[in-house]
Amino acid sequence: MRLEPGQVAVVTGAAGGIGLAMARRFAAEGLKVVLADVEEGALRKAADELAADGAQVRAELVDVSDRDSVVALADAAYETFGAVHVLCNNAGVGSGAEGRMWEHEPNDWKWAFSVNVWGVFHGIQAFVPRMIAAGGPGHIVNTSSGDGGIAPLPTASVYAVTKAAVVTMTESLYAHLKAEGAAVGASVLFPGPHMLRTGLWESHRNRPERYAKERPRKAPYRTLDQYEAAMRQAGHEVRFTPVEEVAEHVVDGIRADRFWMLPASEHSDRQIRARSQSMLDRSNPGYLESFILD
Ligand SMILES: NC(=O)c1ccc[n+]([C@@H]2O[C@H](COP(=O)([O-])OP(=O)(O)OC[C@H]3O[C@@H](n4cnc5c(N)ncnc54)[C@H](O)[C@@H]3O)[C@@H](O)[C@H]2O)c1
Repeated sequence: MRLEPGQVAVVTGAAGGIGLAMARRFAAEGLKVVLADVEEGALRKAADELAADGAQVRAELVDVSDRDSVVALADAAYETFGAVHVLCNNAGVGSGAEGRMWEHEPNDWKWAFSVNVWGVFHGIQAFVPRMIAAGGPGHIVNTSSGDGGIAPLPTASVYAVTKAAVVTMTESLYAHLKAEGAAVGASVLFPGPHMLRTGLWESHRNRPERYAKERPRKAPYRTLDQYEAAMRQAGHEVRFTPVEEVAEHVVDGIRADRFWMLPASEHSDRQIRARSQSMLDRSNPGYLESFILD
């Protein structure tokens, strides 16, 4: 779709990281932005920053895992700005699960699913009927990950399962929008191609009491800095993609109506080929056995 000044973008998980970068980029294109996040202090700060730069902003404290909260977000967006053209279902968390799958806490799964999967579904339900009724143009961007969206990192398997679900949900959404003849596009975003320096490694800061851990962790949460240091010490190269590059990719992808917002990467292509080939050959997923599981 054509992005034009005066249009409206809603971004969940917009208080920091990739979501804030997307909101900033939309604002730079002259769009009005609705920032939605569960982290109040960071949300206010982000909204103030954007407003100080001249953007028209509305900030909404939203828990995407709660259907009513997302419906209230849509109501607020339409009341304030009268339309929504771009919806980014971007809020996401790492699950904090440890060990083998059979050792995980059910609450790790419930929390990650409530945000990463139900959060996207709630966004679709709350916004898409109104976006279709408006006759478009519109576009929905759902944030997945190479982890799960392409193939699972078995060390982060809960997260991977949720992000695989986001791909399948968005493929189905795409087909449904086409079947409806809607002037609303859909894309699935794979932020990257490298790691991103965001708050994802500290997702537990937003973990609600209802999905609290039931037993103490065996190992403390590892920060991104600690992970980076350990990787470098082990002789691995660690590269980061700036969040602004992801936002650029999203804006380009919306303009081009590109479903797969998947940045060029030999690593991703190798994974896609290995997985597809294993399915075509009916061979076992050997490409997963190379992962070192701790
Ligand atoms: N950082 C990476 O390397 C990476 C890679 C691939 C995909 N992603 C995905 O990108 C998206 C953005 O993550 P990020 O890396 O910017 O991390 P981040 O932690 O900086 O941003 C996520 C935002 O979501 C918010 N959030 C968490 N739970 C919420 C809830 N219940 N309701 C509303 N908001 C909530 C957080 O407060 C935060 O502002 C996520 O979906 C993540 O899974 C990140």
